[in-house]
Amino acid sequence: MWKAVILIGGPDKGTRFRPLSLNQPKPLFPVGGMPMIQHHIEACAAVEDLSEIILLGFYDEEEYMKVFINTCRKKYNVKIRFLKEYSRMGTGGGLYHFRDQIMAGNPSGIFVMNSDVCCDFPLKEMLEFHQSKASSVGSTILTTHVAKNESISYGCMVVDQATKQVTHYVEKPESYVSNNMNCGVYLFSPNIFSMLADAIAQKQDEIYTQGGDPDCLIISLEQDVIMKLTEKGKLFAYQSDSTWSQIKSAASAVYANKLYLSLYREKHLHRLSKTEEGGPTIIGDVYIHPSAKVDHSAVIGPNVTICEDVRVESGVRIRNAIILNEVKLCHHSCVLNSIIGWHSSVGNWARIEGTAQQPNPNAQFAKLVSGSLFDNSGKLSPSITVLGENVTVESEVIILNAIVLPGKDLAHSVKNQILL
Ligand code: GDD
Repeated sequence: MWKAVILIGGPDKGTRFRPLSLNQPKPLFPVGGMPMIQHHIEACAAVEDLSEIILLGFYDEEEYMKVFINTCRKKYNVKIRFLKEYSRMGTGGGLYHFRDQIMAGNPSGIFVMNSDVCCDFPLKEMLEFHQSKASSVGSTILTTHVAKNESISYGCMVVDQATKQVTHYVEKPESYVSNNMNCGVYLFSPNIFSMLADAIAQKQDEIYTQGGDPDCLIISLEQDVIMKLTEKGKLFAYQSDSTWSQIKSAASAVYANKLYLSLYREKHLHRLSKTEEGGPTIIGDVYIHPSAKVDHSAVIGPNVTICEDVRVESGVRIRNAIILNEVKLCHHSCVLNSIIGWHSSVGNWARIEGTAQQPNPNAQFAKLVSGSLFDNSGKLSPSITVLGENVTVESEVIILNAIVLPGKDLAHSVKNQILL
């Protein structure tokens, strides 16, 4: 029997995602028409003999989290629970704190996944690999190639190509180590809990001898487990170069949306819309929630997600964008490379446009880089335009490369600005 834990972090994480994480946890932000972590849950639910999925983090369990968990329980017919850390405990601290609940029923191994990754989650393949290579005492890490100059932003590992054993691991190294990077998806053997116990004991000792806050015991899965497993020769790398990207910023959510829609083309074609008699013109990969009302003269796509109860009026054009619940796009408005926040409205002939972000097309294995919001001279870097919740854009107004905080009423055009 297997279990899965999704590390969802908490409200002090996801700051680069604001204002989209202001009113709901970032892991519930929709990409490809469903909350970010529903993709993880869907993949876990497809693993044979997986008995439970645990969401581990330090968000308050608000109503929307309960509703999300209940919806997924029913949809995938799998046990799902939220376990709340009393404060930020690091990527390994919560695992140790809830070890008894995670190990209840004696699972043979535990999948652990970062919530902020977009991936096609080859869990079945990882499981087969794990059983053949790592067996009962080893653990498996999902790795993919990354461009050499980007590698230092991730955990990097050296892999023995014959045995697939990880021989060296460095978390976000200062200089190049390897272009095999940690995807934030693991299948651990139960013996990691003794390593976590050692790490806790060592930290407590340090606090006792050197001083520090005993309530602030942060344990890092990467430093305290992955590196130790590597030293002991107990970590094996499952390599996959298919879909993978991080979701750290609004721009990376739009890129992840594109990746998930293109995965639907291979695996869930029925989720994609197509041009039909009397319906809007659909170009490329588009997801439209069944409750949305889209005028037949609208032109949508590629890479567009339209969420629940959205209204799209005549002559509207949308490309490379996420339109969140209950948005109204009025006649002949245009939305390109943008995210339009919940309950916002865009007036007639208004134009919302951002700059699309993509991995460096000239570097092999390049990933999308979620850089700083500002350039070296302190100016807002060109990126996706984001309208927060409840923003009103008046008719004929043009918004270019801007981030607009919730509740604003925009009667004049703006360019390259953050509107607080
Ligand atoms: N439960 C819980 N508690 N989750 C946490 C905590 C915590 O205290 N801190 C972070 N997380 C979750 C985040 O929500 C995210 O899903 C994941 O753990 C990793 O977050 P970060 O700590 O921000 O790490 P990172 O994304 O910069 O780097 C990690 O992921 C990369 C792949 O995306 C590392 O594992 C890298 O090695 C890896 O390459």
